[in-house]
Amino acid sequence: MPLPPALKQYLNIADLHHEARRRLPLPVYQYLERGSDDEYSLRNNTSAFDHYQLQPHALADVSRIDTRTRVFGCEIDWPVILAPTGMSRLFHPDGELAVARAAAQAGSLYCASTFSSTDLESIAAASQGPKMFQVYVVTDQQLNNQLIERARNAGYEAMCLTVDTVVGGNREAVARAGMSIPPALSLKSMLQFAARPRWVWSYLSRPKWDLANLSERIRPGRNGKRDMASYLGGLLERRLDWTHAERIIRQWNGPFAIKGIMSVADARRAREIGASAIFISNHGGRQLDCTPAPIELVAEIRAALGADIEIIVDGGIRRGTHILKALAMGANACSIGRPYLYGLAVAGQAGVEHALRLLRAELERDMTLSGCASIAAITADLVRDPAPRLRPIPTTREVSP
Ligand SMILES: Cc1cc2nc3c(=O)[nH]c(=O)nc-3n(C[C@H](O)[C@H](O)[C@H](O)COP(=O)(O)O)c2cc1C
Repeated sequence: MPLPPALKQYLNIADLHHEARRRLPLPVYQYLERGSDDEYSLRNNTSAFDHYQLQPHALADVSRIDTRTRVFGCEIDWPVILAPTGMSRLFHPDGELAVARAAAQAGSLYCASTFSSTDLESIAAASQGPKMFQVYVVTDQQLNNQLIERARNAGYEAMCLTVDTVVGGNREAVARAGMSIPPALSLKSMLQFAARPRWVWSYLSRPKWDLANLSERIRPGRNGKRDMASYLGGLLERRLDWTHAERIIRQWNGPFAIKGIMSVADARRAREIGASAIFISNHGGRQLDCTPAPIELVAEIRAALGADIEIIVDGGIRRGTHILKALAMGANACSIGRPYLYGLAVAGQAGVEHALRLLRAELERDMTLSGCASIAAITADLVRDPAPRLRPIPTTREVSP
């Protein structure tokens, strides 16, 4: 597909980020971008990649680069999947439909969120590409079962359970900007919305949306004040534990990932209860702050678990070299959230396609320059850790003599 001329000026994900920021009202931008507490995790997710260096394989035949791989039982054209993100219609009126179509067009896999602003059936119908459905466990057991069965009936190939969000993260910048869900004009936010009339016009001229997979549950009158955020606050199941997760894995009975795994011990446990994959993820730095970056955990978790589980690295990926490093350290694929949302905010489906095109072109060039003609050729020796920052954590307590 030819590149729309207006998108040519955006040469990388940072360019798309800059433009998305220019187009979105501040409260919406803050919701997209910001992290929790002091945003250590948010910053570290990307900056941690800089710690590792790439040592290319010389004189490899790179006349053909093959980026195809398999995850969740699906063949995809390159090792990047689109992470679940709630309420994409905040960023563009076509929301999740635009994202699902762009993912299919780019030969990637889209993971639709429980908190989508489009219902899961319409998302599934929008594209022929491989799709995964992300569930949150909620206090309403009937709703949990319904979501799983709806995803199965709609033809989703895989399921993912997010486990790092039993309560929302403390995103102060979002609160400070006066963001409510769905956006409403408060005195605080009015000026900020007024500064983005194009967004306001396109938002107001389209039909109103809500959390389409849950709309039955959030009808006005049912929850009093129609405030999704407070409804959702009480919806998430805080008693969520390994038994719940195992039950859902059995119920799904197909490719299944646990998203939000951040340690070897939990990765082992995920495999024991039947997960075929994990997302090493801190939710893009939006939940618990002060966690390691997912990239810092990949080699350790892969070494401990062996080849027997699919590992997806999720958080901070903005460059082809980031994907290359993650794969070399043992990931099967990477997952991106904000990068495709920037594209969505800039130009809907064409913008998401552009974000994916940029990342894929970078990855192909980086594979060529590093002497890796296929995903299998991206081996551990490609990455150098110039100064291991931490001593390995001892498995038994060290006793001083
Ligand atoms: C606006 C936004 C909404 C998100 N909503 C969800 C969600 O509904 N479910 C989920 O599991 N993760 C959600 N995430 C986290 C992403 O799935 C992913 O873990 C994160 O974006 C990866 O980091 P990155 O944005 O640096 O690529 C959301 C992230 C963003 C930015």
